[in-house]
Amino acid sequence: MKTYENIKKTLRSSPKAWLVTGVAGFIGSNLLEALLKLDQAVVGLDNLATGHLRNLEEVLSLVSPEQKKRFTFVEGDICHLPTCHKACTGVDYVLHQAALGSVPRSIEDPLSTHDSNVTGTVNMLLAARDAGVKRFVYASSSALYGDHPDLPKVEDRIGNPLSPYAVSKLANELYAMNFSRTYGLETMGLRYFNVFGPRQDPEGPYAAVIPKWVIAMMHSEPLYINGTGETSRDFCFVENVIQINLLAATADRPEALNQTYNVALNSRKSLKELFETLRTGLLPDHPHLENFKPIHRDFRPGDVLHSQADISRAQDLLGYQPTHTLEEGLREALTWYAEKLGKRE
Ligand SMILES: NC(=O)c1ccc[n+]([C@@H]2O[C@H](COP(=O)([O-])OP(=O)(O)OC[C@H]3O[C@@H](n4cnc5c(N)ncnc54)[C@H](O)[C@@H]3O)[C@@H](O)[C@H]2O)c1
Repeated sequence: MKTYENIKKTLRSSPKAWLVTGVAGFIGSNLLEALLKLDQAVVGLDNLATGHLRNLEEVLSLVSPEQKKRFTFVEGDICHLPTCHKACTGVDYVLHQAALGSVPRSIEDPLSTHDSNVTGTVNMLLAARDAGVKRFVYASSSALYGDHPDLPKVEDRIGNPLSPYAVSKLANELYAMNFSRTYGLETMGLRYFNVFGPRQDPEGPYAAVIPKWVIAMMHSEPLYINGTGETSRDFCFVENVIQINLLAATADRPEALNQTYNVALNSRKSLKELFETLRTGLLPDHPHLENFKPIHRDFRPGDVLHSQADISRAQDLLGYQPTHTLEEGLREALTWYAEKLGKRE
């Protein structure tokens, strides 16, 4: 099996053309940064529904002028099939990240979630098929495990979806598997658990827990824990997600293809523990956190109580080896939040 280091070396010496959908979002912009730094040609597609041009500007400020020239941005919607066709032209690998995230958003507005996540993904699958891309790698979610009680979560044992968002990601997997079977399109589903890292948006009602709490702590604003704080998650730093996207796009063992993979660490932290880790990480620069306490409120409908990934399939078939623990990832993420957002009033 090729190692991640070897894959990066090969890509650098023989660059490919990539399409990253959702490129102006958190994970998409991190994929863009990694690909440009490997001298790849990248088309990015995004309708800026939840993504930001500032994410693209930041990435472009971190790469060389030559690498910058290898990026083309298409502002457009994956719900529009001709846009998807245009974006897929001449592309080797698709990394499909565009979607409306968030369980509560999907409960409030299931139709928008369905449009972007299901119709948009079918459009992208069709466009990838028609363009003859080598492989279609797409973002799925741990939300698929729903009410299945087992821990850690194993790919072949999922429960009932607990939200329209989970239904949309399940539909993605079913369509992708069917496109593999029916049209021979190679697809790889990546079930991300709770991903965090630089450029994850702390703002808005649907922000993820880590950026939301970091900002609340930095600015001494009320910080809420939904439930008792025993709820646990397998938090995964975005570098590990970049690694598995590149491994999935380039894997060549037949048994590794047309699969779904858990993406996390196989390690679980409760919200209470996360609160303490963040508080102590920020304390040296934010002494007001000495006696900072969370406010507990009701558990959110649609949320899963505990989550932890069995990652042995990704380790065995793709050679996935997470490089960052939660603590290592948080150090990098906190540095970024402090630089970018710490001075905000
Ligand atoms: N962040 C996580 O913890 C996590 C966990 C599981 C799955 N995922 C999945 O990973 C992917 C990326 O998530 P993220 O955290 O980077 O979210 P994000 O909101 O930061 O990025 C999603 C991007 O997709 C774009 N987008 C949405 N609808 C679109 C449409 N119709 N057409 C074109 N662009 C559209 C948004 O503008 C945004 O830039 C999503 O598919 C999400 O469901 C994320």
